[in-house]
Amino acid sequence: MTRIKNICCIGAGYVGGPTMAVIAQKCPEINVTVVDINEERIAAWNDEDVENIPIYEPGLSAVVKEARDRNLFFSTDVDAAIDKADMIFISVNTPTKTYGIGKGMAADLKYIELCARQIARVSKTDKIVVEKSTLPVRTAEALKNILDNTGNGVNYQILSNPEFLAEGTAVGDLMEPDRVLIGGDLDTEEGQEAVNALVDIYAHWIPRERLLTTNVWSSELSKLTANAFLAQRVSSINAMSELCEKTGADVNEVSKAVGMDSRIGPKFLKSSVGFGGSCFQKDILNLVYISKSFGLNDVADYWEQVILMNDHQKRRFAAKIVQTLFNTVSGKKIALLGWAFKKDTNDTRESAAIYVADYLLNEQAEIVVYDPKVKTEQIYADLDYLNTRSSEENRSRVKVVNTSYEAAKDAHAVAILTEWDEFKELDWKKIYDEMLKPAFLFDGRRLLERKTKEDIGFEFYAIGS
Ligand code: UDX
Ligand code: ADP
Repeated sequence: MTRIKNICCIGAGYVGGPTMAVIAQKCPEINVTVVDINEERIAAWNDEDVENIPIYEPGLSAVVKEARDRNLFFSTDVDAAIDKADMIFISVNTPTKTYGIGKGMAADLKYIELCARQIARVSKTDKIVVEKSTLPVRTAEALKNILDNTGNGVNYQILSNPEFLAEGTAVGDLMEPDRVLIGGDLDTEEGQEAVNALVDIYAHWIPRERLLTTNVWSSELSKLTANAFLAQRVSSINAMSELCEKTGADVNEVSKAVGMDSRIGPKFLKSSVGFGGSCFQKDILNLVYISKSFGLNDVADYWEQVILMNDHQKRRFAAKIVQTLFNTVSGKKIALLGWAFKKDTNDTRESAAIYVADYLLNEQAEIVVYDPKVKTEQIYADLDYLNTRSSEENRSRVKVVNTSYEAAKDAHAVAILTEWDEFKELDWKKIYDEMLKPAFLFDGRRLLERKTKEDIGFEFYAIGS
């Protein structure tokens, strides 16, 4: 039986970093080396002060502290780590393509392909290669093709082991996952052996009945399906939020009522200003692209609607602000509380805040942002990436401050965009006092639930009520 002694993980990001830290902590006899071409990122993972690791994730620094330099290593020497490894995880980014065929929809596989070529060039012994990044169905086949045709004659087994961790709860999700999915070539002895090798790793801390083995394609497609279903629930409840606002129903009451049906269940039914994150939109676009490429246009249209509804929700929220502020925000100061795509992460990819800010900037508003974990440069980088206006203009019209109170000072409106716990504890009467009158508050996360005008000092709009 194959026993893994050395693991290499290519990509020290939101997926690779936490996943490998937990594997290293739970499997002290396995050496785990996480490599990345980004020197700054690797230096941060190696920072003496473990609180400076590049990813903010509750509980992660403690895990890193325990395993780092024992059997968990971070390095930029990609070749050396590949050479030594029996098992290689690929956790590089797979953004949506911004050019050429499939632009705006298909996953850009250039980073994956570069990895495959590098593995093929360097490897002198047999390797098990594990796809950890989110990938379109049948990527494993392309990987195998490159490895078998450009390699040094060594054998490769390709496994698909999709990531189901959610940011903000990554450590808990990794420690106690609902299930771990391992796709491999179950029809051959070598394939089965590779699958077993990975099963053995997870079995260090996860009950066997939660370790699910399937063929590679089912595993790849299950990941896209899971994210599409989750995102679809958010878009469904967000669609209802607009109807609630028109009819006098309250979306939280509706959500509670339908969620108590055990066939539906209560999770992922919280109405919001729109879902963000690196996965939902990208995975659905992928699904849409794959369906279209097989001529399944009805299937593609069905899933695309989930994204269209999400775009609508973000626009609708921003438009509500403009409309409430007497149909103009030109020259008005609007404070945005929260920039991350959800609480307890410093990740901002596809965050609704970016699009709300962009909409308001197009209406000539002045924006002030406060987020407890997101760095100022990231906020500007997110706006610059949209290419709507020059980087100088973004810097002159968007200010980033250090507290919610500072953000609210002389603002015409405040909007809650991320559900950070600390926003619940704010002295809202003080916020109101800081603002220009008439002052307006827009709660895009239903964070001020059960609070009334008497509690916070002023009337506010909450999505879906
Ligand atoms: C998601 C999947 O949950 C995870 O299994 C997968 O591995 C990666 O993609 P993530 O994007 O990290 O994880 O966060 P998630 O908790 O799913 O939230 C995604 C977005 O939906 C956030 O913007 C969140 O605020 C929003 N959301 C979630 C809602 O608006 N309402 C909800 O009820 C739940
Ligand atoms: P994810 O959320 O999927 O983890 P991230 O962007 O946070 O995505 O992390 C992906 C990491 O992969 C980045 O730090 C990037 O530098 C790294 N990366 C991309 N291509 C390569 C490569 N060929 N070799 C090593 N690291 C790579």
